[in-house]
Amino acid sequence: FQPKYLKGKKVLITAGPTFERIDAVRGITNSSSGKMGFAIARAALEAGAEVTLVAGPTSLKTPVGARRVDVESSKDMLAAVNAAVSKTDIFISVAAVADYYVLNPSEQKIKKDAHILTLELAPNPDILANVAGLADPPFCVGFAAESENLLEYGEQKRRRKKLPLLVANQVQSAIGADDNEVFLLDDHGQHKLPRAPKQEIARAIVQHTAKLYHEYHKP
Ligand code: PMT
Repeated sequence: FQPKYLKGKKVLITAGPTFERIDAVRGITNSSSGKMGFAIARAALEAGAEVTLVAGPTSLKTPVGARRVDVESSKDMLAAVNAAVSKTDIFISVAAVADYYVLNPSEQKIKKDAHILTLELAPNPDILANVAGLADPPFCVGFAAESENLLEYGEQKRRRKKLPLLVANQVQSAIGADDNEVFLLDDHGQHKLPRAPKQEIARAIVQHTAKLYHEYHKP
């Protein structure tokens, strides 16, 4: 690889959790820290790419040189991705997007009483599947965090969402941690990246992505 092997390429990355409001103070989220997605953004910047980072709620610092768009809900994330995607060469979807949003969230803080509170949840749109299904999609990379049957469920997700590359990791050891161990699943098979700091894993993922991107876009 040349040092700036992604020079001139536009890379769009989602990272972190989304937050779905229940009322003025409460919401539904998950425990993604944003570390993996931010590490991917730094690795793409190192490789010379122009990076747009759509980030759910996280306190992480913006990687130097990235254009950052902060979002809260899955719907906000979808809008930010849709606004950027037409100019994108590579889309890497690292965010842990909430699968459901709360129908009719309350603008005021809901008062606590002795009754059972029932929330109605509706499924969120799948941002990655939408992008991968575009008429002229960017090269799409998905992630899957699984608590069991990692490779089987990861490959099922890759095929369902029609992705050339999916990065599979274990929920228990990936979320919030400073290091990670992942499997790269693509049309050639499975490739393990043994446990290492997330920044090192991110560099290897970005290199593998660039290799496949160039394979798919041979003149
Ligand atoms: O943030 P960290 O603490 O560093 O943790 C990193 C991570 C574990 C969150 C990350 O490595 C990871 O695995 N992210 C994907 C989490 C996941 O399980 O996603 P999923 O199985 O719900 O979705 C599969 C793919 O579709 C993902 O690329 C996801 O971004 C995308 N998706 C899912 C749902 C949805 N509504 N829109 C999406 O784009």
